[in-house]
Amino acid sequence: MKVLMTGCHGQVGTELMALAPSCGVEAIGFDHNTLDITDKDAVLACVAQEKPSSIINAAAYTAVDKAESDKDAAFAVNATAVGYLAEACAQHDIPLLHISTDYVFDGSKQGAYAEEDGVSPLGVYGESKLAGEEVVRELCEQYYILRTSWVFSAHGNNFVKTMLRLGKERDTLGVVSDQYGKPTSAREIAHTLYKMLMSKQQAWGTYHIAQPEVCSWFAFADSIFKEAKKQGIPLALETLHAIGTADYPTPAQRPQNSALDCTKLEEIFNLTIKSWQDSLVKVIEELKDV
Ligand SMILES: NC(=O)c1ccc[n+]([C@@H]2O[C@H](COP(=O)([O-])OP(=O)(O)OC[C@H]3O[C@@H](n4cnc5c(N)ncnc54)[C@H](OP(=O)(O)O)[C@@H]3O)[C@@H](O)[C@H]2O)c1
Repeated sequence: MKVLMTGCHGQVGTELMALAPSCGVEAIGFDHNTLDITDKDAVLACVAQEKPSSIINAAAYTAVDKAESDKDAAFAVNATAVGYLAEACAQHDIPLLHISTDYVFDGSKQGAYAEEDGVSPLGVYGESKLAGEEVVRELCEQYYILRTSWVFSAHGNNFVKTMLRLGKERDTLGVVSDQYGKPTSAREIAHTLYKMLMSKQQAWGTYHIAQPEVCSWFAFADSIFKEAKKQGIPLALETLHAIGTADYPTPAQRPQNSALDCTKLEEIFNLTIKSWQDSLVKVIEELKDV
């Protein structure tokens, strides 16, 4: 199975490339430099030349706060360019696997969000990702849209790496305790995408992947520091305290609750999503010597 991968140096892209051989996938990876997905001619030419059996789009504009003042760029990557990939997939009659986000929801629901719950993004990033979902549904017959949340890995920019850096620099740190979600490792997402791709189900549609269980950013930070200490990482941090969203203003508003219900994915593809705590241990092990 030959899979064309965009954004191959991002968090999920890196894990997709690393896992490919053990999953029986021939991955042809393109990063931002080798395939800018906002270049329509380049996208169509690349797909025509490589003739993949499917495309996984791991490229995205993911700077949530910057997107508020950079709307055109966010939409160019997260919506218009996704349309080019969808068009290429439709032309060649191949599936598109596209990653989306919990930020399509406004966070007001009590309990976890199911795939069919109403979407209502709070900011430009979420709006641009929602527009990307819509263009995939419009142009492709064979597609999986996989929404995920709070992605972490040993690569790129993410909350785990930010906490470890701050924990080494500061003795006191306040972290938001009134926003809830499910941290999800890029490796678990990559594994899941390959399982969906390899499955005979071909149950095209929209799915959620997030690792149990729900926590706040504060609780996630607490787990990160406890695990770091357990693994002998030296930290300057002495006090971690809970703060409210109002104490940490950001350009983009975040959903208060973005927990994703993953029942549909688990049932249709017969898989069990492991806990983020297990993935966190592995990621911190990988980061230990960095
Ligand atoms: N990170 C999260 O917490 C989170 C949460 C929910 C959903 N998601 C979704 O999960 C997916 C993967 O996210 P991630 O965390 O792996 O993102 P990431 O680490 O930011 O990786 C995205 C990659 O896309 C590349 N890219 C940006 N613009 C591009 C373009 N025009 N052409 C080609 N490549 C381009 C970036 O390259 P450069 O850096 O060189 O520009 C980067 O390597 C995305 O769809 C994202 O929306 C992420």
